[in-house]
Amino acid sequence: MNQAPTPGLRRLRFDASPCNFPRAAVPMLAQPELACLQWQVNPRLAMSPWGTESFKRGRYALHEAMRRSGLGPGTALLAPSYHCLTMLDPALRLGAAIKLFPVNANLTPDIGALKNIVHHQHGDQRIQALLIPHYFGIAQSLENMLELKQICLDAKISLIEDCAHILTLGPQHPAPDAGIHGDWIVSSPYKFFPITEGGLLWSSQHDHANASSETHTPSTGPRWREILVLWQHIFGIKTLRTRSTNRADFLPNFSQAHEWEEACDSASPYYKPNDELTQESILASRLIRHTNIQALQARRRENFINWLEVCKTLRQATPLHTELPAGTIPYMFPLLLKDFKTHFDTLKRAGLPLGRWDNMVDSNCPTAKHYRMSLVHLPCHQSISKSQWTWMASTLRQILEK
Ligand SMILES: Cc1ncc(COP(=O)(O)O)c(C=O)c1O
Repeated sequence: MNQAPTPGLRRLRFDASPCNFPRAAVPMLAQPELACLQWQVNPRLAMSPWGTESFKRGRYALHEAMRRSGLGPGTALLAPSYHCLTMLDPALRLGAAIKLFPVNANLTPDIGALKNIVHHQHGDQRIQALLIPHYFGIAQSLENMLELKQICLDAKISLIEDCAHILTLGPQHPAPDAGIHGDWIVSSPYKFFPITEGGLLWSSQHDHANASSETHTPSTGPRWREILVLWQHIFGIKTLRTRSTNRADFLPNFSQAHEWEEACDSASPYYKPNDELTQESILASRLIRHTNIQALQARRRENFINWLEVCKTLRQATPLHTELPAGTIPYMFPLLLKDFKTHFDTLKRAGLPLGRWDNMVDSNCPTAKHYRMSLVHLPCHQSISKSQWTWMASTLRQILEK
């Protein structure tokens, strides 16, 4: 594949493995468990409903969206400065350049700065697509989405709506205010349903029959790994590997994480070109169809609201959002640490499940610079048990309240 480096673009890398953090005591993603499954099939839920194409993960659906948008050598993807690498990898894989626009503290796009980039394009890397995510399940405002749509229309740029953090399975199972604006829309069902993989692609305008992937493969049967994971979770013991909450456990670790910078001229190790083929998993589709969607939605909302309550008294961290909009089904609970140097390590050492986008392409966006190390993502999924919840809340308080 042709690779066109973006001059000067640097990827900031972080590897915590030298710290030997314990495995998280609570899974980051939902596990198959009987409370959120039902015997009856829900006909409205399907992994690959009409008008969508299935991929192994959202990143490969993004690759196809970007390819169909015309990204390739000599073109550029316009993407937010706050991102995970898998959002940019597909463009790098296509040989396109990356241009980053700044985001505001609440993770909305800085539309003035974005317009400036679009209107003052120079050089031979024409912006061909704009990628806009709805972070952590909170949809961008309708006003912003309509403005971005207009900017794209005027500049003949394809709008790719990244719904990886939104609970949606395509045009027939839309989410409020998301998954309806982009020329191409991508979602990542394994982030919401207890399945091991899944990425979906659809379009608000294009006829899939005419634009179908060159790489389509027929659906695959259940894979052994999926069956094994399912078996372990449904019939196994709920995994709360609760650690002692003794203060000694929270002592900072003296082995340092490995941090470095590298040229960003090809996709990161998180992108596997061999997985670009479209695919459907029968087991994943079955599990989705037997999901009790009302229970899933209610428990995610309840857990997010519980996190808001717990975080009210924290001195060392503040939630990114102060409320959960009506009808929103959250993916994660984003929490901003005041002193990440001390507390990220301590939280990880205590076994708390934490995500963080510490691998990121460098930019001069102040929000991205700050959030890369300070914004952590806590799970709020439907399979967190009462005891797991109590343990997570008290451990977080113990570390961040003083
Ligand atoms: C906002 C966003 N978009 C896209 C992706 C890629 O999704 P997937 O993990 O399904 O490849 C991710 C991955 O976490 C993401 O956070």
